[in-house]
Amino acid sequence: MKRLSIATLLLSILIFNGAAPGKKEPLYRNPAAPTEKRVEDLLSRMTLKEKVYQTWQSYVGLNSNPNNAGVILDTIPLEIGSLIYLEPGPELRNSIQEKVMKESRLGIPVLFAYDAIHGYRTIYQIPLGQACSWNTDLAEKVSRVSAMESRMSGVDLVFSPMIDVARDGRWGRISEGYGECPYVNSRFCIAAIRGYQGDDLADHSHVAACMKHYVGYGMSEAGRDYTPSDISDQSLWETYLPPYEAGVKAGAAAVMSGFNTLNGIPTSANKGNIEDILKSRWGFDGFVVSDWCSIKQLVNQGIAETEKEAVRIAMNSGVDMDMGDNLNMEYLEELIKEGSVQEKRLDEAVRRILRIKFRLGLFENPYIDVTAPDKRYLLPESVAAAGQMADESMVLLKNDGGLLPLDRSKIRRLALVGPLCKDNVNLLGNWSAFGTAPDVTTIYKAVSDEFGEDVEIIYARGCGLDGNDESGFQEAYEAALKADAVVCCLGEDRMWSGENASRSTIALPEIQSRFLDRIASSGRPVILVLSNGRPLALSGMADNAAAIIEMWQPGIAGGKPVAGILSGRVNPSGRLSVTFPYSTGQIPIYYCRKNSARRGTQGLYQDITSEPMYSFGHGLSFSVFEYGDIHLSDSVITADMKIRAEVTVTNISDTDGKEAVLWYVTDPFCSIARPVKELKFFEKKMIRAGESETFVFEIDPLVDLGYVDRNGNKFIETGDYHISAGGRNATVKAVKRL
Ligand code: BGC
Repeated sequence: MKRLSIATLLLSILIFNGAAPGKKEPLYRNPAAPTEKRVEDLLSRMTLKEKVYQTWQSYVGLNSNPNNAGVILDTIPLEIGSLIYLEPGPELRNSIQEKVMKESRLGIPVLFAYDAIHGYRTIYQIPLGQACSWNTDLAEKVSRVSAMESRMSGVDLVFSPMIDVARDGRWGRISEGYGECPYVNSRFCIAAIRGYQGDDLADHSHVAACMKHYVGYGMSEAGRDYTPSDISDQSLWETYLPPYEAGVKAGAAAVMSGFNTLNGIPTSANKGNIEDILKSRWGFDGFVVSDWCSIKQLVNQGIAETEKEAVRIAMNSGVDMDMGDNLNMEYLEELIKEGSVQEKRLDEAVRRILRIKFRLGLFENPYIDVTAPDKRYLLPESVAAAGQMADESMVLLKNDGGLLPLDRSKIRRLALVGPLCKDNVNLLGNWSAFGTAPDVTTIYKAVSDEFGEDVEIIYARGCGLDGNDESGFQEAYEAALKADAVVCCLGEDRMWSGENASRSTIALPEIQSRFLDRIASSGRPVILVLSNGRPLALSGMADNAAAIIEMWQPGIAGGKPVAGILSGRVNPSGRLSVTFPYSTGQIPIYYCRKNSARRGTQGLYQDITSEPMYSFGHGLSFSVFEYGDIHLSDSVITADMKIRAEVTVTNISDTDGKEAVLWYVTDPFCSIARPVKELKFFEKKMIRAGESETFVFEIDPLVDLGYVDRNGNKFIETGDYHISAGGRNATVKAVKRL
């Protein structure tokens, strides 16, 4: 098939580009020529209009019934650079591409893009939950599944990963990123990029990755979407930029500029961040695409008076491709002719776009083999990967008296109550692409399968996720009374997360807490199972449950991991990637805060505690792990020395379990105030019952102990640094010379 498409391509070149047999092919068509030479050759042949069109991203598909394919094809300009591809299969793509390849003057393939955020059809855990697995190998694995399904369905680029560090659970998009910690976002960003892109973008089981939303979108004011973010330069360099820098190093093909105004300048008009930092300083050589209509929105943001001016500003700020606006093709040519955008700036934008198209092999292989859906979707190994990710991302928040795993000798009847027991839609999470509800195993089904006939399951829905209807409370209460334990499944509608889904409170709606009160009044042990896309404020609820499992929105695995935790088949190993406060009023609350000017009891809230309910990194296991002392290979170091910190962890229980060791660094005194602690490394390993494992943190002083200033320069100062893991500490002294 590959050979066939090359043959078709060659034929089309001969027929439609007028190259007579024997006539020399243009260099850009020579797959053996170096990419940069091909890019320059092609660029030199393009007209101004053709260049402008390369910077245009529109969309196609979704409601297009196959009978309309001809109409669709007629409406797509042959020179268009990119299309957001909303169809679930390669056929429409291939026909668009074929028309473009055969009928356009230069035969520049279209780049097809799509929002596969946590899977394409095999939907897996939302990113916030993935980060709770602390298993980047698994994140890479599920991203590979998404890449394969996407590419085989006609998608060349996915708008993922989202690496906006977020510390405000009111913001609906907190579910799409990896939580509050810059280091966690960086590590999961690298893993996702590896999974999506593999070693060769041209291979049809990988896709180009687009990191988003550059930058600072996670700090949208008051958690409302599209609001400005004000972030000091110091915080930008310390917290919000590092995941992007890590992604650039990992070779991300594209970056999306954001919606937000950052420190007064919208991020799609921010030359300093795009041109100076991303492209020049970090050497990013892919392209920057605006977020949906974020060029047009420069008018709303008060930066541009007209749409034409918005195009000028965005282009001159380094935005290479215009998503959804259709404004570049309307105004860019004119702006260049007037001289308010230099043609060399446009050339640079096009160069970046073409470079990625060449790397994707689109010129050689513009078409995607048409395969039967069951040859690309939900393959057994893909489903298994989604299942492993779900297993490892469950967080056991509470387990009083070792209620879990359930003692099967004592459980004859289990009540399953609450609005999410039989749910197969909300467990998919937001941005669920082509995932379908029947792919999801409900909690009810999973628990019934897990316990089989030994245990009678009594189900009652009890109430909805929202509203005031208490008419089902009594039935659920009676179910609880008949049972030996109650599993109460509460949480969020998936549409409460994602874009334009902010909430003023991160507590669950009152009906749910009233329902839990009622269930708890049965006196039966209650296991609260939560599915949600943000950290929750659980005060008033947590006391009503002896055990709490945070399952996030695990995708197709649905209730299986929860059923496994109830029975003991799954030993929970997740830890929180985001802090759970007691109350929404505690926001922002995160582990790497800076010290207060008055330590101790002053300055704290007078009405409630100032501590989190469940801290970043919290998560229980059925195993018991004991940490030994931390050993350092050297206790006195200089800036250019690498040292090792080691800790041995022993599983002193009789249950095999995985442990994620989180390594923190504290610099108590420095010329700038530093966070109380910063996560600098983590690693997760299986530790068999009764056995030990040694975990090693290789410390690079400048990176791990040093700090960055507000200009992005890295420094390390002399003095003591504390290294900690699992409650153990060691101190290393940095000196100028040994
Ligand atoms: C979102 C992006 C998304 C894009 C394309 C925008 O509204 O902010 O995250 O990738 O649409 O669908």
